[in-house]
Amino acid sequence: MNQSLSVNKKSWDEVAPRFYGRNPLPEYGPLAPTEDELQLLGDIKGKRVLDIGCGSGHSLKYMRDNHASEMWGLDLSHSQIKAAEELLSDDDVTLFEAPMEENPGIPENHFDIVYSIYALGWTTELDQTLSNVYSYLKDGGIFVFSWEHPLYNRIQQTGRNLIFSQPYHSEGPYDHEAWTHPAIMQQFKVSTYLNTLIKKGFLIENVIEEVRLSQVDVERHSNRWYSFDKASYLPTTIIVKARKGMRI
Ligand SMILES: C[S@@+](CC[C@H](N)C(=O)[O-])C[C@H]1O[C@@H](n2cnc3c(N)ncnc32)[C@H](O)[C@@H]1O
Repeated sequence: MNQSLSVNKKSWDEVAPRFYGRNPLPEYGPLAPTEDELQLLGDIKGKRVLDIGCGSGHSLKYMRDNHASEMWGLDLSHSQIKAAEELLSDDDVTLFEAPMEENPGIPENHFDIVYSIYALGWTTELDQTLSNVYSYLKDGGIFVFSWEHPLYNRIQQTGRNLIFSQPYHSEGPYDHEAWTHPAIMQQFKVSTYLNTLIKKGFLIENVIEEVRLSQVDVERHSNRWYSFDKASYLPTTIIVKARKGMRI
């Protein structure tokens, strides 16, 4: 395991309780449209699904409630996997404590749906992770992910002004301002996510950058980091739906 992954594993083991059940499906992220509205996943009944960065298992629970036929998940953090095992103890679910950069024994060409809710931006190897996702999917299977929009943490709010605190062009490891424990997140541009998917052979079907700022959304999601004011100007979340096509 590379050094960033070891640092992040320790960090997530410590913060896991704070993130228990935070914004799982049908949520895609704070102040973002939900699966109830977007209908990106289609009918889940009878589908084989895999969760990348499954956290406390609440999105897998959503899959169970919607009658997926097989549920698989992986997460780097021991604490998160323990929480997911406990949450899903009555269900037939296969969980791996493993980084998304590696295949810990997940079958290839097997899944109808691979998804990742607010976890992909942690990957230390985007290229390898998306190769893995591609290999897990059946032909025609879908990959849906959500992550903090790459503009959101590069722009700071100071009073009524929004200011770029880092160039949009810079990519690679960074310290996330809102993160209190030592952790190394990765900054990618929107085009890097999309071009890497395209390079792997994915067909991109949908890219969503909308926000939802109804009273209910704001009451449910607003906090110091995701605020109504800032979200009025820029997206909090990017959501992408891609389909496994023929490798070029
Ligand atoms: C915000 S949480 C995900 C929440 C979860 N997807 C849900 O729907 O409830 C992000 C997760 O990514 C995991 N993670 C971070 N780096 C990872 C990596 N390299 N491989 C796998 N999981 C990772 C963390 O342990 C954490 O559980």
